[in-house]
Amino acid sequence: MVTVVARRTCHKGKLMELASMVVLPLLLGGLGIYSVFRLLQRMRAKAYLKDAVVVITGATSGLGKECAKAFHAAGSKLVLCGRNGERLQELLRELSDTGGHPKNPHNHHTVTFDLSDTKAVVSAAEEILEAMGHVDILVNNAGISYRGTIADTVVEVDRKVMETNYFGPIALTKALLPSMIKRRQGHIVAISSIQGKIAIPFRSAYAASKHATQAFFDCLRAEVEQYGLDVTVVSPGYIQTNLSLNAITGDGSQYGVMDKTTSQGQGAAEVAQEVLSAVGKRKEEVLVAGLTRMDYASCPPLYITWKNSRAQSGYIRQHKHASIYKEKPGILEPCIPMRHHHTESECLEQAAVGRGTAN
Ligand SMILES: NC(=O)c1ccc[n+]([C@@H]2O[C@H](COP(=O)([O-])OP(=O)(O)OC[C@H]3O[C@@H](n4cnc5c(N)ncnc54)[C@H](OP(=O)(O)O)[C@@H]3O)[C@@H](O)[C@H]2O)c1
Repeated sequence: MVTVVARRTCHKGKLMELASMVVLPLLLGGLGIYSVFRLLQRMRAKAYLKDAVVVITGATSGLGKECAKAFHAAGSKLVLCGRNGERLQELLRELSDTGGHPKNPHNHHTVTFDLSDTKAVVSAAEEILEAMGHVDILVNNAGISYRGTIADTVVEVDRKVMETNYFGPIALTKALLPSMIKRRQGHIVAISSIQGKIAIPFRSAYAASKHATQAFFDCLRAEVEQYGLDVTVVSPGYIQTNLSLNAITGDGSQYGVMDKTTSQGQGAAEVAQEVLSAVGKRKEEVLVAGLTRMDYASCPPLYITWKNSRAQSGYIRQHKHASIYKEKPGILEPCIPMRHHHTESECLEQAAVGRGTAN
């Protein structure tokens, strides 16, 4: 009995010795290698972004504005694009205020154009190349969302969403691409959406435009790899921005409602950091704003059902809400949800009622 116990103790001791001699050093070595790898990756990303000429569309608001701040802090030379020149100048002032940034000594540039006007897009690209000489990173961020039923949406609305979210960005990309190919250097980023991967009801025009975006930039990546160019597609979930407020409805009027899901989304500044990190690491594809690959890749049918039911319940709630209003003529009369021109107070009320929708 004593010898068995002694043998067991001896065996345990040997195991412990083996663990301390082999497993622990292996573990520590692995951790060390991983930390060095991460450090090198961070240093490489930093060097990649510093002094890079970065064009950002939709820099007047939301994610684009926060991306401008993030790339600015990373030391990039910025070209800020938008439709409102004054707001772009305001952002420049804001950047130089927080800036006097020792990391960022550059003179930045602004270009004002509407993405749905292809001619304006092409001349904007010319202006950018003339001013900066080249573009290192193009962030196709600007976009517009949509709310409505297919049956009630006029085709001009589908066109408008496609022009802004798809044709505009691809026109800008095509206009800048030859110079990138010539230099054998350049990185194109497309801010898509999880709706570029799944389609949910009442978002047809938006989901279609983002599916087209995903497909186009996937093709582009495969075509330009031979020239050493990078393409990153970013697919966010919900971000706290004005996207739903600025969305258009089936008749082209402004939706004007801050959706509950959008207001509860991830902060735009945090998402901008995720974009910056993905670009710095030259990732091909990232899901951001509270999404991980597990969310939809692990069980797509379940994920799609969940998204559909959120969009559907939002739509149904809107109808219910509208019928409450209909009982109070004067406040509510033409309140058919997807077509109604909301006043500010109605928007606030509707936002308070809350709806489960998706961007
Ligand atoms: N917020 C979300 O939950 C969410 C989720 C997934 C994907 N996204 C994507 O993220 C991107 C940024 O949107 P956001 O959330 O930051 O929304 P946002 O606050 O409404 O900003 C949209 C930006 O796009 C610009 N834009 C719209 N139409 C344009 C046009 N025709 N020409 C030029 N610029 C135009 C706007 O400029 P103006 O100031 O001139 O209107 C604004 O700067 C979009 O591509 C959107 O689809 C957002």
